[in-house]
Amino acid sequence: MAGKDKIARKFRGVEGGLFTKVTKADVGDSFASMAGQVVLMGWADPFYPDPSVPETVKEALIEAAQCGIASHYTMPIGSVELREEIAKKCKAYNHLDVDPRRNIIITPGSDSGLFYAMTVFLDPGDEVLVPDPSYPSNFLNPTLMGGVTVPVPLDAANGYQFDMDAFERCVTDKTKMVLITHPNNPTTTVFRRESLEALAEFVIRHDLILVVDQAFEDMIFDDVEFVSPASLPGMWERTVTVCSISKGMGLSGLRVGYIVACDTFMDVYYGGAVNVLGATNTASQLAAIAAFRDTSFMAGYKAHYDRRRRDACRILGSVPGVKMDMPQSGFFCWIDVSELGDSTEIMDYLIRQAGVAVNDGKNYGSQGNGCLRIINGCLGSDDESEQVLQRIAQALRAYQEQD
Ligand SMILES: Cc1ncc(COP(=O)(O)O)c(C=O)c1O
Repeated sequence: MAGKDKIARKFRGVEGGLFTKVTKADVGDSFASMAGQVVLMGWADPFYPDPSVPETVKEALIEAAQCGIASHYTMPIGSVELREEIAKKCKAYNHLDVDPRRNIIITPGSDSGLFYAMTVFLDPGDEVLVPDPSYPSNFLNPTLMGGVTVPVPLDAANGYQFDMDAFERCVTDKTKMVLITHPNNPTTTVFRRESLEALAEFVIRHDLILVVDQAFEDMIFDDVEFVSPASLPGMWERTVTVCSISKGMGLSGLRVGYIVACDTFMDVYYGGAVNVLGATNTASQLAAIAAFRDTSFMAGYKAHYDRRRRDACRILGSVPGVKMDMPQSGFFCWIDVSELGDSTEIMDYLIRQAGVAVNDGKNYGSQGNGCLRIINGCLGSDDESEQVLQRIAQALRAYQEQD
């Protein structure tokens, strides 16, 4: 035990070792071990555990194995064909005119892409402003790099858009970066143009770097405008954009993400690619090329998720004491159960009473206290999904009536 304590002190900054503090609820053995006993509605993995591989993607994977290329590396920065496809998408969707040979790097998933994107900037003690609630990694990652995470509260009453007064209160001369998830996970908020323009003005005035996690950029409802912060005036030179094929494309198992940034940043990212990232899985990159060349399968996914969010609102929104807005993006919903009780207790109750594992809002920052995140895009069948949502609603009613 003494030996273990001695080693624990060697970890940077966090008492008992960095990973004792990890509270990311939707990843890990304890969560996976519940599979089979409960329905896992806390894992942001489209249609999990049911199969969902588009035909063209499947063919590309088989071809990669059959022709033998699958056993070889690509360049550490990723396949040039994939970068060319991504550059076309950046132009059409993000209004970013990027050079596939200079401004894109492929990463093994966007989680590692995000870490890599940030780590080259942060010195010990540097402060990173993170809207709260946010994706759990956003709070943890700066501390893993020796930096300091500074949560900036978002308010449900303001539709979880940025409150620039709160940003001004949190900025100091140690602030180096703002890290946002856009659309936001867990709230599904698509930050509006005015909100992003105000943030851009703040970032420029304080001479900061903006890192934007756009993992859910390709699954947005109701024709809400999606603005890529890097496309705003003066922002290309100070914004790092990180994207993924895991969410809207539902290809999480392939582990492909990518970073888009200006030449100055890319010189550093390309320089470290071979020793830090290695090359992303070759077969996965070929499959990702197929997915980008024919994205028609995504329309079906979108219709699916649209039904699911409406079902979730109809079923969960009708429970007395539950507050929820129609999700704006993704395949999950964010519900306020604070009138019913403590969100951790309610999460535990739902496992026992409804056989469903969801996420406690506290994992997404202190502003998430009293809320739950529920992945309504898991399971292939709408009927099964509806039954599970009804079970959750019934359990929430019973929870309220038990006192
Ligand atoms: C907001 C957000 N960003 C990034 C990721 C990481 O995705 P991946 O590493 O599969 O690209 C996730 C996964 O849940 C996410 O929710």
